[in-house]
Amino acid sequence: MAITIMPVTPDFAAEVHDIDLAKPLTDAEFAEVEAAFEKYSVLVFCDQHLEAEQHLDFARRFGPLETSIAVYRGDENLRVRPEIADVSNLNARDQIWGEKSRLRMFQLGNRLWHTDSSFKRVPAKCSLLYARAIPPIGGHTEFADLRAAYDALPGETKRRIEGLVAEHSIQYSRAKLGFAQFNEEEKREMPPVPQVLVRTHAGSKRKTLYIASHAGRIIGLAQDEAEKLLAELTAHATQRQFVYTHRWRVHDLVMWDDRCTMHRGTEFDDLRWRRDMQRATVSDTAPTCEQEGARVAAA
Ligand SMILES: [Fe+2]
Repeated sequence: MAITIMPVTPDFAAEVHDIDLAKPLTDAEFAEVEAAFEKYSVLVFCDQHLEAEQHLDFARRFGPLETSIAVYRGDENLRVRPEIADVSNLNARDQIWGEKSRLRMFQLGNRLWHTDSSFKRVPAKCSLLYARAIPPIGGHTEFADLRAAYDALPGETKRRIEGLVAEHSIQYSRAKLGFAQFNEEEKREMPPVPQVLVRTHAGSKRKTLYIASHAGRIIGLAQDEAEKLLAELTAHATQRQFVYTHRWRVHDLVMWDDRCTMHRGTEFDDLRWRRDMQRATVSDTAPTCEQEGARVAAA
């Protein structure tokens, strides 16, 4: 049976039906999924029954997998394998985390608008998040369409931000929540990296903003001016008309395009309910400055 694509809006977010991701896709099926991904940015696959290996096999069709940054946290007993980012509220013993645990403080950053791995020199191309357990209340994921947000900017703003390069670091996003307890290995392995503020989306050739809570500075701008501009762009891009909210069901797999969207998790009672979400992440092909040919001035 042919795959069915059901758009949520004409350009952003679509459900994909009549597909079983537990089985390898044919090249023709994969081409349909890939085309939908490049067009809609967020794809929802319902009622998928996946082991970790099947989840990863599907993700690998889109490119090389990332390793979770949890390996730098020195967590000796990861709950999941290193190619999977554990986005749950569970510790290595599979219990709900403690109120004061470092893991909880660190993961609360996922409630801020961000795009995955923009703090890496080669950031993420796409993320594939699979729901194994969800809370009955809250814990949704919101997605913002940064291509549409770019299109809607006034011409003057487009001219102002063209060619600008921001500096992204996971320390910047965590600092916004008062978290600063990075160990030496984390600081060494994850220094701030330059990312263009406007990029051309490789799959559609549309222009897009590329912003995240990980962005903390803009090269060549005074700090207060940079923070104001980043806050304004984020407020613009996350207006209701650019946002799709996904309300999870168990066994949903949602994939999104990290090159042209931001996302955030919404609140839930994380000390009461289990939320077991596991993410495979695919790397982009090159640093954004290299892709855009931007000349990065010395910081
Ligand atoms: Fe994320």
